[in-house]
Amino acid sequence: MDATATVTPFSTLIRTASHEQHTEAETSTFMSDLLGGRLGVDAYTRYTEQLWFVYRALEEGAEALRDDPVAGPFIQPELMRSTELERDLAHLRGADWREGVEPLPATAAYAARVAECARTWPAGYIAHHYTRYLGDLSGGQIIRDKAEKTWGFERKGDGVRFYVFEEITNPAAFKRGYRELLDAVNADDLEKQRIIEECKRAFALNTAVFRELGEVFPLSA
Ligand code: HEM
Repeated sequence: MDATATVTPFSTLIRTASHEQHTEAETSTFMSDLLGGRLGVDAYTRYTEQLWFVYRALEEGAEALRDDPVAGPFIQPELMRSTELERDLAHLRGADWREGVEPLPATAAYAARVAECARTWPAGYIAHHYTRYLGDLSGGQIIRDKAEKTWGFERKGDGVRFYVFEEITNPAAFKRGYRELLDAVNADDLEKQRIIEECKRAFALNTAVFRELGEVFPLSA
């Protein structure tokens, strides 16, 4: 029998390796309070601002990686979120939304690491790409639904456009295709292991942002 037939697919390895941290991110105090409807729209706005800094790093980095033999296949225009985030922020903060928008320290560190990977380590960039975009296509839809109900945004309208992938009509099929890309990633076993480590780091960077947001928006007991 072909020995490779029993090897666990990389998409399974990366999902399994980050499972614990996924639960941690999902159940962070800030996320729980946000999804529990216990925070105001100002907290949602501040969170959306943080996402903008992260996606700017992801998507500015994407440009240069389009033809990269390792990261290139992952760069797909239908995933891009910066324009949607900018529309959401214009809705949430007004036309002059850029004035006074600052990343939290954890966000600045996260965006810097994404940019560094994009610049110097395309395989590491994949870890960040996976952590955000596959998450947005999955749990992101739960967040959108909650946000619409809690703060009264129009369904799939301004304020929640970040969560709406207009060009991906079948997210389940898209995710299957994405997992196939992961399984076929142009990297040896050692490099795959390093990607998994970077994925864990990506989750930790997200959790750190939630922690700081939780400090800015504590629940008044
Ligand atoms: C309250 C917040 C969250 C909820 C409710 C949530 C929920 C989910 C659900 C239900 C799935 C499974 C989808 C499927 O089987 O296809 C999923 C997958 C995923 N989530 Fe989350 N999630 C949340 C937060 C996050 C965060 C903060 C991250 C990282 C930044 C993240 C990253 C991922 C990734 C990468 C996957 C894909 C796993 C894979 O199939 O390989 N999620 N999420």
